[in-house]
Amino acid sequence: MNKKVEKTGKKMIELKNIIKTYKIWKDQTFDALKWVSLDIMEWDFLSIMWPSWSGKSTLMNIIWMLDDATQWDYILKWEEINNLSDGEQTKIRWENIWFVFQNYSLIPRMKVLKQVMTPMIYAWVNRKQAKQRAINALAKVWLEDKLTSKPDELSWGQKQRVAIARAIVMEPALILADEPTWALDTKTWEEVMNIFSELNKEWKTIVVITHEPDIANLTKKIVTVKDWLLT
Ligand SMILES: Nc1ncnc2c1ncn2[C@@H]1O[C@H](COP(=O)(O)OP(=O)(O)OP(=O)(O)O)[C@@H](O)[C@H]1O
Ligand SMILES: [Mg+2]
Repeated sequence: MNKKVEKTGKKMIELKNIIKTYKIWKDQTFDALKWVSLDIMEWDFLSIMWPSWSGKSTLMNIIWMLDDATQWDYILKWEEINNLSDGEQTKIRWENIWFVFQNYSLIPRMKVLKQVMTPMIYAWVNRKQAKQRAINALAKVWLEDKLTSKPDELSWGQKQRVAIARAIVMEPALILADEPTWALDTKTWEEVMNIFSELNKEWKTIVVITHEPDIANLTKKIVTVKDWLLT
């Protein structure tokens, strides 16, 4: 099994001919993705710009290995994910990929510092080290003065920054963000995109899902429907 992705600037993920068919009712089905192909290179700062309900979140869940495609060919750094067990997929995910959700997904009533420490506690990082790493991650998103705040006491932009700190604290090579600027005002989404841009300069690969051209324009590469639809 491969370890952390190295810094080579080569292809990181290759998705080929992805089909995702949802079962709706009895034998009725719906193709949310049909023949989608996408390459993600190391050090990409990429946006996937597609309209609403077009399968963006479905694709993210597949890249994150949260859900299997109906038909797929998924290679991460020469490792064919298709044939791996759930346990092996989970291990690769923990070592390489982290996620920022549309709705922040913070744990209610838990203090900011602890929210960010949580992934490391699951990964058996010792508490002292986990605390220091969480403080460093929160400093990167300018929240060092909010360590003891709870989600209710934060603005939407601050909540999203906590979610980003929680995503970077495990030092993943790839960060996936599904509509991370949803419901944020212009100034706040610019801040969030700035953070991604800074992380990208530190050699993190960032994939942002959005349907907003203004947001996509702040990334280095835009993938639109034409780029990946083969039929
Ligand atoms: N579990 C499911 N069962 C059946 N259909 C689903 C399921 N999840 C998603 N879909 C359908 O698949 C299509 C794509 O959904 P998805 O959430 O991936 O789109 P999206 O591009 O992320 O949308 P949005 O812009 O609203 O975030 C939609 O028509 C949706 O109704
Ligand atoms: Mg979505």
